[in-house]
Amino acid sequence: MNTVHIPASAPYDVQIGPGLLTRLGGAVKSLCPKAGRCLVVTDDAVGPLWAAKALDSLEKAALPVSVYTLPHGEASKTADNLIALLNFAASERLTRADVFLALGGGMVGDLTGLAAACYMRGVDYIQLPTTLLAAVDSSVGGKTAVDLPAGKNLMGAFWQPRAVLCDTDTLSTLPRADFLSGCAEVVKTAILFDPDLFALLEREGPAFGRQAVIARCVAHKRDVVAEDERDTGRRALLNLGHTLGHAVEAESDFALTHGQAVAIGTAVICRAAEKCGLCPPEVPGRVTALLEKFGLPTHTDYPLDTLMERMLSDKKRAGGTVSVIVPEAIGRCAIRPMDRAALYDFMKAGL
Ligand code: GLY
Repeated sequence: MNTVHIPASAPYDVQIGPGLLTRLGGAVKSLCPKAGRCLVVTDDAVGPLWAAKALDSLEKAALPVSVYTLPHGEASKTADNLIALLNFAASERLTRADVFLALGGGMVGDLTGLAAACYMRGVDYIQLPTTLLAAVDSSVGGKTAVDLPAGKNLMGAFWQPRAVLCDTDTLSTLPRADFLSGCAEVVKTAILFDPDLFALLEREGPAFGRQAVIARCVAHKRDVVAEDERDTGRRALLNLGHTLGHAVEAESDFALTHGQAVAIGTAVICRAAEKCGLCPPEVPGRVTALLEKFGLPTHTDYPLDTLMERMLSDKKRAGGTVSVIVPEAIGRCAIRPMDRAALYDFMKAGL
């Protein structure tokens, strides 16, 4: 098992390895000794596969459990479902000492984390990521949110989990398309921080060692969160490919997965950076080839004018500018604020 300590304002460990769900009860007992009840939040794709294992372990630890199941998919990450979950917690009489357990991917983790931040002004929650995307990114760092009609993650809070227990066994039932979607965030991490990881992905493709690569990505995220927990500076780097990515994801009405959209956003940014003389030609070439190796898209036909409107409503906008993360080399990126005209020209160069 790998353990990565996250030195946030409320510090915690991320554990990565097989069999963690079978030890969940003992983990909850030691992490949240005052908890008298657990609320397991999951979705209708993950619950039937993995909830029984979690519930069995919690029952063996004599922890009473309530279960709340959402329809799977990003469309469930809504304020209505947040309120419904909070009402359920209240109807099950969960107290401030109790603990929410987020068993699933990014949607379940983000929504459960926000519910934990709000319920009785804040209760403990533990992330149990079951997708690659959640394992390497969304379950770590305390960003919680739901989407609003105007955009993704527009309602949220920073609320650090009590722990992240990433049971790598759950990846065995992850649909191939979802696994490949998560690979976009792994490639993103490599472009941002880790040329050796990038080379490993080029060599090994989708067969890369799950546990070691997840631990490596989490360690990079630890470094960013330790420096900029509240996302006022360096943490914006993690947005590589996301400004355009969120725009194409929303424009597709979520027919594109988050990872596919981020792959498109990343490839466009790399081509734009090269055309604007900000990175050497090898960068877009290697990045596009690697994304394609993972079966991920690297182009979009959506018109730039439409995408611009969506990018300008992204929450990374500040004043009149949007922070764009621009690769300078494999393993090094810069944060470049761009006004509307500069953003338009830059994106046009990459599309
Ligand atoms: N997923 C981006 C971040 O945690 O900042």
